[in-house]
Amino acid sequence: MIDRSMTTARRRHSCGTTQSSTAFTSVTLAIIALFSVTCAASPDPAPAPGPTVAASASPDPAPASGPTVAAHALFSYMENTANGPGHWGSLEPDWAICRDGKEQSPIDISKMEAAQDMGPLEYTYTAGDCTVQNQGHDFVLKWKEGNGKLTVEKKDYVLQQVHWHVPSEHTINGTRLDMEMHMVHQDSSKARAVLSVFFSKRQPGDPSKLLTGLEPYFKRLARKNNMDEDVTELVDPSPWVDKTSGYYRYEGSLTTPPCSEGVIWTIMSKVKHVKEEQVKLLDAVSVVEESNFRPAQKINGRVVRYYEGEPAKSEEEKEP
Ligand SMILES: *[C@@H]1O[C@H](CO)[C@@H](O)[C@H](O)[C@H]1NC(C)=O
Repeated sequence: MIDRSMTTARRRHSCGTTQSSTAFTSVTLAIIALFSVTCAASPDPAPAPGPTVAASASPDPAPASGPTVAAHALFSYMENTANGPGHWGSLEPDWAICRDGKEQSPIDISKMEAAQDMGPLEYTYTAGDCTVQNQGHDFVLKWKEGNGKLTVEKKDYVLQQVHWHVPSEHTINGTRLDMEMHMVHQDSSKARAVLSVFFSKRQPGDPSKLLTGLEPYFKRLARKNNMDEDVTELVDPSPWVDKTSGYYRYEGSLTTPPCSEGVIWTIMSKVKHVKEEQVKLLDAVSVVEESNFRPAQKINGRVVRYYEGEPAKSEEEKEP
């Protein structure tokens, strides 16, 4: 019973994020409507349900920070099921691009072109208020007001959320790593840029302190679909992104339905260390045991560009 009331509280809390996002299926709409009712009935000064409906009717095919929990409930990662990756394009009218798109993600990164016009990654992140949510297929860390910015090809994108795939979605010359973290950014026109960081158990190094700090949340939210918790401390994602690392860049899509294209991918070539227990924690999301990677998509003539990175600097320069 205690659990149940907590669920309600948490789902009500999610309203804030759902409102700013956009519906793309009638199912989503129906669920948002349900959320709105819960919000309206709550004693909190939650925003009025009116604008929610208006926002839901907007033509944008995907919400700001990626697919909603409702979308997650409709698809699966299991290859031989009716809603597995091979069928995503037929599950919803707005998801057809998962099947028909020519610039889908993830891909296997093998051939690449050295890019003279690309330099060290430019970003400024800060410490901000966060929520961790079990979305059904992954854990997502959301900044309520967005966080800092990533500059890609002279445009600024604000960080919205970070989520994890176990094992990795992108592969390097066919090699799949233990884990891949996606940092999803968006600019004022809602164009997206995703920054991806690989983690491996075999990579020497210290486990990420940030990830270690989040372990209690992952533990409590394990296999609890649609539950979320506020993180008590401010979270600054900067330590996850090594500015001295090289990176791969290509144009692709979201790796979950609705598989929207026009996403600029930046994939860091330096791999970070992760502990075995952390991989297990981040794998324990869905109620059923499953991996959460989408199989590699066709390159279709796309070019992956590569920036080699800087030679390693002295210790005090590395850790300001
Ligand atoms: C993949 O392997 C080929 C052949 O060894 C090599 O030239 C290429 O740089 C590798 N690609 C990546 C992304 O490491």
